[in-house]
Parts: sequence; C-alpha cells; structure tokens
Amino acid sequence: MELLKKKIREEGIVLSDQVLKVDSFLNHQIDPSLMQEIGRTFANRFRESGITKIVTIESSGIAPAVMAGLELGVPVIFARKRKSLTLQDDLYTEKVYSFTKKEESEVSISRKLITPDDRVLLIDDFLANGEAALAMARIVEQASAKVAGIGIVIEKAFQNGSSKLQEIGYRVESLARVSSLNKGYVEFAD
Ligand code: G4P
Repeated sequence: MELLKKKIREEGIVLSDQVLKVDSFLNHQIDPSLMQEIGRTFANRFRESGITKIVTIESSGIAPAVMAGLELGVPVIFARKRKSLTLQDDLYTEKVYSFTKKEESEVSISRKLITPDDRVLLIDDFLANGEAALAMARIVEQASAKVAGIGIVIEKAFQNGSSKLQEIGYRVESLARVSSLNKGYVEFAD
C-alpha cells in the first residue's frame, strides 16, 4: 500500500535495527484518513472470503480493525489484555509471549462473541514473531470457528512471524513489508 509506505518513510522513526516507531499515525496518535484507507484495503483483499467477524488485540489493532469492519459490514472484537470489571462471562484465554517486551501476558475474549459458524479475519498493527496473531488464532479455534485470514498493517519481514503463520496454512496479507531497519533507514520488501 503506497500511501502507508510513504507515511512510514516520512514519519517512521527507526529506534534500532529491530524496532520502528510509528507513534504519529498508528501507535499513539492516529491518522483517521490513513486508517480509513487501510480499512478499505483490507476489505478489498478479503471481500471474497466470507468474513463474518474481525478479531484484534487492544490497543493499536483496534483502529485499523474498526475501519475494516466498517467497510466489510461486520462486528469487530478486541481481545482484552487485562481482566475487566465488567467482563465476567466465560472467557477464552490464551497466553502471548512478547519477544519485544520479553514478557508473557494473557488475552481474553468472551465466549459469547465467537460462534462455530464464524469466519474470522484477524487484524493487527505489527507482525514480528507472530505470537499475538497465533494467540488470536488459537482463541478462534477454541471457539470451533474458522480463521479466514490475517491482515497486518506493518510486517517486519526480517522476523519469522509471517512464515510461521503461512506454514500453518493461514493467508497473511500485510500492507507494508519492512525488509530491514539498518542505519536508521526503512527498506521495504516489495
Ligand atoms: P509478535 O506478536 O508478532 O510476536 O510481536 P512482539 O511480541 O514482538 O510485539 C509485542 C508488541 O510490540 C505488540 O504491541 C506489537 O504490535 C509491538 N511491536 C512489535 N514490533 C514493533 C515495532 O517494530 N514497532 C512498534 N511500534 N511496535 C512493535 P502491543 O504490546 O500489543 O502494544 P499495543 O497494541 O497496545 O500498542
């Protein structure tokens, strides 16, 4: 997606050869019109996949997921990272190990929200080692529903998340694939 790559080139800050900071439009401040275009692009790529629901993880996955949900006309569920006061239903819970943060956390979704007839599109802001996407996929499978695809805003193609997910058989669509973050510059894979 050229508009997204332009935004990353102009506003992305390379923090190290592993980490790209995009707080000006995705992870802290949000650019609504860019997010709308991201939602349209996801919707176009998955329009023929019979998507019935979108699942993401709070917090930075929510904006692109909502925009895609608006375009596809389907509800958006965000997995919660913390136990909520009001979320007292039976939950599907999975562990997520973050290589970036070197810590394990848990994500949960109410069992009421996913049913076996659902075809779910997973959306997330970043794909690094794929742990967050795998945790979402395990929740969908716990519910006996189908993972119909995975949509990623920025894939770090030099990490192994995408190949891990594709080896399992999931279709992964990334809107920008970063191939390296060397010497402060962002290079794209395609
Ligand atoms: P993985 O799920 O693909 O294995 O990724 P990892 O554990 O490495 O990532 C943990 C968190 O860091 C995730 O956000 C992920 O989106 C984010 N992240 C990973 N690599 C980068 C990067 O290069 N730049 C930025 N900006 N973020 C990165 P999170 O903790 O769930 O945060 P949030 O969704 O609340 O913002």
